Amino acid sequence: MREKKFKMALASISILAVILLTACPQTGRKSQAADHETGSLIYERRCAYCHGSRGEMVAGPRSLQESSMTLDEIHRIVVQGEGTMPGFGEELTDEELEAVSYFVLEFQD
Ligand code: HEC
Repeated sequence: MREKKFKMALASISILAVILLTACPQTGRKSQAADHETGSLIYERRCAYCHGSRGEMVAGPRSLQESSMTLDEIHRIVVQGEGTMPGFGEELTDEELEAVSYFVLEFQD
């Protein structure tokens, strides 16, 4: 009887361990996923109404999908703004600026 309980406990612990391990495989990947989520959220709130939900809308000379800017160039324009696009350097944290810049880079064809 006692042994059975022990085995049951052992089984649940193993199941729990498997769930935990698959939920967060590596800290690196986990934080990248979190960055992606932050970027996506900020993009929807701050950028999508001008650039379209997938960067498909033409704002200024081109859409974000047609853009060929590097991550650094995107980061600069997001911080400072350009033409009629406002800069977000004052409103967003460094992490948020990086996350949204990276998120936008992924729109490029
Ligand atoms: C009020 C509308 C508006 C908002 C809000 C806006 N943008 Fe823009 N964005 C523009 C316009 C207009 C341009 C073209 C600027 C120019 O070259 O004159 C532009 C250009 C860009 C470019 C340069 C693309 C290229 O290759 O020329 C990037 C990158 C960009 N925006 C990212 C963002 C991100 C990220 C956000 C949100 C944090 C954002 N924008 C919010 C209007 C907007």
